[in-house]
Amino acid sequence: MCGIVGYWGPEKPKAIILDGLRRLEYRGYDSTGVAIFDHGQLKVERSPGKLHRLEEKLRGIEFEGPTGIGHTRWATHGEPNEKNAHPHKVGGVAIVHNGIIENYGSIQKRLVSEGVELKSETDSELIAHLLDEKLREGATLLKATLEVIPKLEGAYSILVVNEKEPDSMVAFKNGPPMLVGLGNKEVIIASDIQAVITRTPRVVYLDDGEIVTSIKGAVKFYNSKGDEIRKDVHEVKWSQAMAEKAGFDHFMQKEIFEQPQALRQTMEGHLEHEPLRVVLKSSGLTDDEYRNFKRIQLIACGTSWHAAMVAKYVFERVTGIPTDVDIASEFHYRHLTLDPQTLAVTVSQSGETADTLACLRRVKKMGLRTLSVCNVPHSSIDREAHGRIYTNAGAEIGVCSTKSFTAQIVALELLSFHMARLRKSCSDEELKNYISGLLALPGQVEICLNHDKWFREAAQSLTKFRGFLYLGRGVNFPVALEGALKLKEITYLHAEGYPSGELKHGPIALVDNNMIIVALAPKDELYEKNISNIQEVKARGGQIIAIGSGDDQGLEKISKHYLSIPEAVWSANPVLESIPIQLLSYHLAVALNRDVDQPRNLAKSVTVE
Ligand code: AGP
Repeated sequence: MCGIVGYWGPEKPKAIILDGLRRLEYRGYDSTGVAIFDHGQLKVERSPGKLHRLEEKLRGIEFEGPTGIGHTRWATHGEPNEKNAHPHKVGGVAIVHNGIIENYGSIQKRLVSEGVELKSETDSELIAHLLDEKLREGATLLKATLEVIPKLEGAYSILVVNEKEPDSMVAFKNGPPMLVGLGNKEVIIASDIQAVITRTPRVVYLDDGEIVTSIKGAVKFYNSKGDEIRKDVHEVKWSQAMAEKAGFDHFMQKEIFEQPQALRQTMEGHLEHEPLRVVLKSSGLTDDEYRNFKRIQLIACGTSWHAAMVAKYVFERVTGIPTDVDIASEFHYRHLTLDPQTLAVTVSQSGETADTLACLRRVKKMGLRTLSVCNVPHSSIDREAHGRIYTNAGAEIGVCSTKSFTAQIVALELLSFHMARLRKSCSDEELKNYISGLLALPGQVEICLNHDKWFREAAQSLTKFRGFLYLGRGVNFPVALEGALKLKEITYLHAEGYPSGELKHGPIALVDNNMIIVALAPKDELYEKNISNIQEVKARGGQIIAIGSGDDQGLEKISKHYLSIPEAVWSANPVLESIPIQLLSYHLAVALNRDVDQPRNLAKSVTVE
């Protein structure tokens, strides 16, 4: 969840580290800090709050050394104040850390009993003390790191520097991501490609249990026993422009508008036109495997879980395979009995979500075949699954997921149409209809995006409402959940998502004329039942914003506002409905003056349990 960046090279580290932190700030923004060499000494500067506060603090301060490390924090242990900000410096060693040290209590007890005075409430400072002990005994930074690692339990990654070794950096990964950029006579070590891609496309991804040392720019890799290992260098294709706002006010806004292109990219390479069919390319699983799975188990968190829920409806109807969906943090600890012929599909934008990754490892141990649906190539989930489908939506920086959601739905539908063809569970005609629905999406999403102005204006009149209820049925129900999540996370208003038919079992008691009801009611097989449910809310004073398909005067009549999405096959509706719910949240958040890209208490990728 935190962002880490380190630099060694001919340029002044300060500017490069600050630029890296700016690109990583979406990983956490509770506090920031740097430790940079200056005339042989490691100078530490830290600040609570966002990066701009550290930048102000550093204005006019120059550092002369070649090496430095920086950190942007999402707090786990200890309040987000200056003393808990990273780097933590003890003696000559400074450390930045991402993750959690689970045996924190026993280490702290031992250090305190030996008279060590702790300056912060963090588990990270303890690692600095342990390293300092070893360095004072004469170890090099590499040796000290190798000796400290076995003492630490938990999922964590660290980057460390030592005053006595001004041209060196050492990093270790055991959980949260860490990668090394090999630039032109310079080395960048970071937790995310965003901090590296501006300097070099040549990247090495650390695996769990691996250490990297950079000494005067010479980079070596070791396993946790200290044996040198060989690692592959990857050329990363993402262009720098993909992580810029490109004239938009917010990343979220840009990412909403990128959806037509993102969806094209998700489909690219997987469709054949004569005859029209889905042929998944390089997914890593064989056609025979796809033919023989008896169950599907989808696992994900947050928005990705909502996309997986949409996919459940699609898989069951199109492939006829019984399909379950679980939230990763629940699935992880359940007492499970799974059919060995279950395909486990982990869905994750970042590919680093700790709970989803833990579930992937668990089902692999149980002997299941696994497939990842990820947006970030080379991420942990992508690397560890047996097979993969990329959403290819491009970098998503806004904490609030948008384009990754619709791209995940499309990727999962491609998978289900591929399996349906192989298993002959659907007629060719039906499949063609579904695939034509996918192909029409980029153009139809453009049409939905044209409603942007309406939402901007409508948002002004919605700021006074405090309760929002999102309703949908069938495949549209998960979009109602997603709508409520979008609204909650960036406006901080209370919102709930419900299946329309469930309302009278309790939640309808909430409805009065202060409640906004966002009703998803496209023309599909549940349309009539859905309309009856909407009527029930209307009768109790609910203020209805209806999202329906095409011209629907009946629905328009009972609604305060009616928004039309293009008429489409049922399986395409969740993607089309996503656009209005995203625009509604975005404009309401802007109208309420919220921090759209960095909402409070959140971080983009959740690499701790
Ligand atoms: C939603 O807007 C959030 N970004 C969050 O719910 C997110 O979808 C969740 O943390 C899962 O992340 P992942 O897709 O990277 O695994």
